Amino acid sequence: MDCHLGKGAKYKLRQGQDLAWGAAEDQTRDWRAIDPRRSEGPIPVECRSASCGTCWVGVLGGAEKLADVGAREGKKIKEFGYIDTAEPKPLIRLACQAQAQGAVSVVIPPWNGQFGKYLKSLKSEEAAAAEVSPDQKGQSAEQNHAVN
Ligand code: FES
Repeated sequence: MDCHLGKGAKYKLRQGQDLAWGAAEDQTRDWRAIDPRRSEGPIPVECRSASCGTCWVGVLGGAEKLADVGAREGKKIKEFGYIDTAEPKPLIRLACQAQAQGAVSVVIPPWNGQFGKYLKSLKSEEAAAAEVSPDQKGQSAEQNHAVN
C-alpha cells in the first residue's frame, strides 16, 4: 500500500507500519537535499515517541485506514495544540504513531520539523532562567532583607 504526499510523490507502507517508519525506509530520493527537514525520509522526524511534535501531518484521504489514536498520541496532539478532539481518527496525526492499515494521503505542513526545535528552545530558556547560582540566591535574600 502507498502513502501519497501530493504532487505525485508517494512511498510504500507495510500493513501496520507507522507513517514515519515507512517514510524512513523510502530511499528513492535524496530527501535531505530536497528539504533539510527530511533527515530520514519524506516526513521530518526527531523523537519517534510522540514527544517532540515534529512529525505531525494532515490526513487528506484514508483517515479511516489509520489505526485509532492511542492514549499518548491523543494526549500529545492536544498538548501541542494541533487538534483537540476525542475522534478516534482525526485529520491531524503524529506520523510516528499513526499505523496504516491501507493507502492514505497526507500533507506535510511547511512548518513541520520546526515545532520540535521551537519547543526545545523554550525548555532550554526556561531551564536557564530557573537556574540560580547559590551566590545569586544569597544576594536576593540580602536584597530582600534590605528592602524589608
Ligand atoms: S517524531 Fe517526535 S512526535 Fe513524532
